[in-house]
Amino acid sequence: ERTITILGLESSCDDTAAAVVREQGSAQPEILSSIVFGQTDLHSAYGGVVPEIAARAHAEKLDLCVRDALADAKIGLADLDAVAVTAGPGLIGGVMSGVMCAKGIAAATGLPLIGVNHLAGHALTPRLTDQIPYPYLMLLVSGGHCQFLIARGPEDFTRLGGTIDDAPGEAFDKTARLLGLAQPGGPAVQAEAAQGDAKRFRFPRPMLDRPDCNMSFSGLKTALMRMRDQIAEKQGGLTRQDRADLCAGFQAAVVDVLVGKTRRALAVYLESNPSHPTIAVAGGVAANTAIRKGLEAASTDAGVAFTAPPLSLCTDNAAMIAYAGLERFKSGARDGMDLAARPRWPL
Ligand code: KG4
Ligand code: ZN
Repeated sequence: ERTITILGLESSCDDTAAAVVREQGSAQPEILSSIVFGQTDLHSAYGGVVPEIAARAHAEKLDLCVRDALADAKIGLADLDAVAVTAGPGLIGGVMSGVMCAKGIAAATGLPLIGVNHLAGHALTPRLTDQIPYPYLMLLVSGGHCQFLIARGPEDFTRLGGTIDDAPGEAFDKTARLLGLAQPGGPAVQAEAAQGDAKRFRFPRPMLDRPDCNMSFSGLKTALMRMRDQIAEKQGGLTRQDRADLCAGFQAAVVDVLVGKTRRALAVYLESNPSHPTIAVAGGVAANTAIRKGLEAASTDAGVAFTAPPLSLCTDNAAMIAYAGLERFKSGARDGMDLAARPRWPL
């Protein structure tokens, strides 16, 4: 049985990552190593990722990540079958750093070069972790993305809908900023919400009454700002309880929208008659327990299996890029030295 070993590189946002994934015949693929250098510290003073700083840090760290990934996997470049790299979508300076690093390795070794769509990397992760069969429904929810996809093959995705403005993670981060909580906002807002009363403030459920799978989250932030300012005007500031109640109300609205739209997406997906119906969720927001619980309940109601990769593989990493590269490699795909870095690249 054939053994395929792929090196993956990721540098599209604020994590520099390299990983080695190996597949032997039909066995579960194995992550031999996965190195992630986060850049949170570099950007924390600016309240968001600064593209120029990110690109420089990627360029400085990529070769070290590759060295560590190979060392952890206890292999050398000669043991690889191909080098896979995120070629977009993302911050272009970072994507270019990764693509140039991968081209350098390919040119020096003669290894095939495989460009990977970052979103395909996220969307294929449940196959890496659970070997789930196509077609499956995927909800990708992170700081930058929010969409429903039917995954039919490594390069065959049908987009059912997604956010028309902010991603949910972005909404959590902005909510945290408006309430003076720590970044990243998701975990901070979730912790506050656990102490709060979700019924005290009534947040809107944007677009939930529409029959499609599209969503909107930017209005929640506006609603939150208005409620916050009203309380502050009345009592001169927010109490701890006010803050917790606002977080609870906000989170409940996000859960209702995501779960409601998931029910719609499940109905569309089930029309394609999958033999092992499965929904997978990935992205940093999948860490939220209230969201996870709601999605699991909706899946159970629809008779569909629910799966979520471990959190370290839900957030940005290079194992998912190596695995998506492996699937492309097996389908015969190869890229040349003209592989382009793409800031935008819808699936
Ligand atoms: O996938 P990810 O690491 O990065 C990208 O956006 O690509 O996701 C990060 C996002 C942040 O916006 C963060 O606030 C959010 O995921 N997040 C959460 C939770 N943990 C992380 N949102 C809600 N609840 C959480 N527990
Ligand atoms: Zn990502």
